[in-house]
Amino acid sequence: MTRVAITGSGLFTPAESISNDELVACYNAYAERENSRHAEAIAAGTAQPLPLSSSEFIVKASGIKSRYVVDKAGVLDIDFMRPRIRTRGNDEPSLMAEMGAAAARQALATAGRDPSEVDFIICAASNLQRPYPAVAVELQQLLGAGGFAYDMNVACASAAFGIQSAVDAVRLGNAKCALVINPEICSGHLNWRNRDCHFIFGDAATAVVIEPLHGAKSRDAFEVMGTRLKTQFSNNIRNNFGFLNASEIEARPWNDVLFQQEGRKVFKEVVPMVSELLLGHLAALGIAPESVKRFWLHQANLSMNQFIARKVLGRDATETEAPVILDEYANTSSAGCIIAFHKHHADLAAGELGLLSGFGAGYSAGSAILRKL
Ligand SMILES: CC(C)(COP(=O)(O)OP(=O)(O)OC[C@H]1O[C@@H](n2cnc3c(N)ncnc32)[C@H](O)[C@@H]1OP(=O)(O)O)[C@@H](O)C(=O)NCCC(=O)NCCS
Repeated sequence: MTRVAITGSGLFTPAESISNDELVACYNAYAERENSRHAEAIAAGTAQPLPLSSSEFIVKASGIKSRYVVDKAGVLDIDFMRPRIRTRGNDEPSLMAEMGAAAARQALATAGRDPSEVDFIICAASNLQRPYPAVAVELQQLLGAGGFAYDMNVACASAAFGIQSAVDAVRLGNAKCALVINPEICSGHLNWRNRDCHFIFGDAATAVVIEPLHGAKSRDAFEVMGTRLKTQFSNNIRNNFGFLNASEIEARPWNDVLFQQEGRKVFKEVVPMVSELLLGHLAALGIAPESVKRFWLHQANLSMNQFIARKVLGRDATETEAPVILDEYANTSSAGCIIAFHKHHADLAAGELGLLSGFGAGYSAGSAILRKL
């Protein structure tokens, strides 16, 4: 069977970043204004005051210190509190495609491939800008690629699921040069007015090139030793946004069509699910966990990653073994594990093993075991 490799990765980072202090100052100003507006009802016990947020809590509970966003001014405007995005005409590139194309061009440059050599694109992301035409097909045109393209949404695990689909297509000869692109504009689905989750997400786009190992031009490539996926239904991370919203007889409240979660339950249920997936995958390939030199894990919560790495290794992982990017980027959904890979793989020696894993809503989890060439 054709041996397959990841031959390049790319990252697009928005220009603007918001620190925890800036974010908390904005949220608290909003909460205090709402509380004074509703002071009488609060005093009468008919309304609850909005609780205040704190930077100390955010760092302690999540490890997040800042996040990049496509529009800082809109998010920090207490009368708006979401990114302000220019409405583009149908003949202009969409924002998601533009971000994805920037990451894809970087990945192709590393792979030593011209965009015209690409014959398969998956746009894998947790939020897609529109139902159709597929953002992936728009990316195909923007990049000047051939072949075919489609969108895929498996929430924060989208990159891992996209990688398995691309690897399978290349292995079976259905594609010769595939791109998995993850443009994530998480600031658009985040409820910035909810104290319990307003700090969680950031924006970024990533891409990887997947092609047959034989004939690869890249000097920075990893053979894909195997991929494995798992899903298990849960409502603990949910977003009810969709095309039927306008037809639903009872209108949903505005915050029901944004990201919502039961963070504690997610933490408790996803850690064992992912640890079992990773241990089972390594065992199936006859790989001892301690021989894995690098864990590129989904970046949602620092302690969650530390727990998973500890369950897999049987001891604490060092920061070199399980690199952290969520301190700077926050949770960028499917892009997180690819950002970790992109920024933290150059020091691995030929033959060394790494494990990439994305996990999130669904629940969904995926793993790819990679060997440096
Ligand atoms: C979201 C998350 C960081 C919250 O951390 P947590 O320790 O579970 O926090 P909790 O929601 O249980 O809240 C703990 C306390 O802090 C308070 N708190 C919550 N948000 C706060 C904030 N922004 N500032 C200050 N205090 C806050 C809560 O009110 C609670 O107070 P109490 O103990 O008096 O009731 C954490 O649950 C998490 O990351 N879970 C996994 C999420 C995940 O991976 N999601 C995937 C998304 S795709």
